[in-house]
This record gives sequence, structure tokens and C-alpha cells, in this order.
Amino acid sequence: MFTTLPSTTSTPDLPLDLFDAIADLKQRLNAVVLAHYYQDPDIQDVADYIGDSLGLSQQAAQTDADVIVFAGVHFMAETAKILNPHKQVLLPDLDAGCSLADSCPPAEFAQFKAEHPDHVVVSYINCTADIKAMSDIICTSSNAVKLVNQIPADQPIIFAPDRNLGRYVMAQTGRDLVLWQGSCIVHETFSEKKIIQLQTTHPEAVVIAHPECEPAVLHQAEFIGSTTALLNYVQSCDRTQFIVVTEPGIIHQMEKQMPHKQFIPAPPIANCACNECPHMRLNTLEKLYLAMRDRTPEVIVPEATRQAALKPIQRMLAMS
Ligand code: 13P
Ligand code: SF4
Repeated sequence: MFTTLPSTTSTPDLPLDLFDAIADLKQRLNAVVLAHYYQDPDIQDVADYIGDSLGLSQQAAQTDADVIVFAGVHFMAETAKILNPHKQVLLPDLDAGCSLADSCPPAEFAQFKAEHPDHVVVSYINCTADIKAMSDIICTSSNAVKLVNQIPADQPIIFAPDRNLGRYVMAQTGRDLVLWQGSCIVHETFSEKKIIQLQTTHPEAVVIAHPECEPAVLHQAEFIGSTTALLNYVQSCDRTQFIVVTEPGIIHQMEKQMPHKQFIPAPPIANCACNECPHMRLNTLEKLYLAMRDRTPEVIVPEATRQAALKPIQRMLAMS
């Protein structure tokens, strides 16, 4: 009697042309691929839409696809699921988390919130559904200043979880925010010293930075903004050389759209690749294909949490 031996290889069967296979699956599933700028260039190239967190949420809110394939990190796919309870939301690697979201555990945040009972809670979208469910308004790096400016001046505010974005919003709005002390491991890897060194060898370059960087790093920047804002800025700026102080995945779009300009990734403090987000980079084109082929892994949000988290997201979309 013959038995089927278990496969000795861990690589599942893959088609020769993943780009074609993914295009075919998009049609068969009526799927849309949404990708963040920090994704691997190949993933960006198969995406139907590439954007920052606000743009991706807006796309997720209006898509008529049956399946959303989210090439980003867990909190982004979770937001898409909160907005689309009846659609399937696939994340190529379920372990693609976020150090910033992890820096705000729900039980500790509930305690922090209880210590400030008269405060409105504005949470950066880089947090879990449980934190969103405890928040009044969600914001992203592209609308945080605008949203905080819409809150009455005498209303005290908790801002969570990113202390760097919070400090940036405080400086821009003149508001005194109570900050949760969370941060992003990637953006905290940039140093003022390394950027100044780079400026001495590239004196013509414009420094542009994401507001998740520390204040000393932001102090060196001529322009600060979300990933989409950074992309728009380098498009409209007549200078041709830029030092880009954020995850270098964004440079793929910059180079594609502006091949005549030069984009220099800001180096991390150490001699490592730690300016690349280890969570975002868990997704690969192969995993994206397999997720579509096998319709898994799927992001699920418990219904009570989803309903509570939906309100502050809808508030953000209405106020943006
Ligand atoms: P953006 O909304 O600017 O794309 O930021 C997302 C993010 O995770 C930055 O680390
Ligand atoms: Fe989270 Fe930072 Fe990665 Fe953005 S870059 S997903 S904030 S760990």
C-alpha cells in the first residue's frame, strides 16, 4: 500500500509569473489590493492604490470590491475591516504588527484614560482596535493638526500613542496635550548627528521628515509630513536632491515619479537596516499571492469592539 509522504519543502507551489497570477486573482475574487508606501517595491507595483494611512482608510471606506487585500500592517487592515464588516480583509502576513501600536496596551491605556476623566481622546490610527474603541477621534499624520484644531480650545485632550507626533501637534497647534509615551522603533532610529553629517556632503539637499521622528530630527527638516505629503512635496518642489527621513520604501514611488531627482535615505544610528520597518517588510509578493489564492490569513475584529472603534474612525473621515 502506498502512502503520501509529507512534503519536505516549505516553499508552496508558486506560479512562474506572480504579477500575472495576482492580476488574475484580482479579477476572479473581485479583489482590490491596497498598499502602504513602506511595502516592498514589487508589492507597490501590483497595488491598485498606494497611499498613506488616511488615503488607505478613505479607499477602504469607498471600495466596492468583495475582498480587500491589505499590504500594510495589522492596524491598517483592521481599520479596513472595521469599515467593512461584510468584506473579507486579507493581510499577507498576520504577524505584520507595529511597534507603536504595541506600545499602548489596552489595560494600561484604560487606566491612563480613567486618570484624566474630563479629557477627549485623540488617537493616532497606529493603534489597535481596542484602543480605537476607547477613543473619541482617530487621526493620522496627515490630519492630526487639522483635527486637533477643530476641538474647542478649553477642552483638555489626551493624545495617544505616539509622543513624537503628539509633540509635533502641540508645537503646531499651541495646545497642551496629555501624551501617551509611545513611539515607533523605525522613526526613533534616525539621529540629528547623522543627518547633519549627510547635509555637509550634500549641501543642496532638502531634508524632509515624517512627524514620528524625534523633535531634534524634525528640527533639521525643511518639510514635515505624512508619507503622501512627503511625496507631494518633492513633486512640487523645484529642488532636485532630498534627504528622506522616514522608512525608505517611499523612495520607490519618488524615483518612479521623478527619475530626474535624487532621493537619499537618511541612515539609521547604527550600521544596520533598521530604518526599514521590520513589520511592514514581513509582507512579500509571494505571501500576497498565497493569501489571495488561499483566502487566508484573514483579519477579524470582534463585533462589539468593531462598533465602538467605528465611531471615532467615522468622526475622523467626516472631519478630514
Ligand atoms: P503615514 O500615514 O504617514 O503613511 O504613516 C504611517 C506609518 O506607519 C508611519 O510610520
Ligand atoms: Fe509602526 Fe513604525 Fe512600522 Fe509605521 S514604521 S508601521 S509606526 S513600526
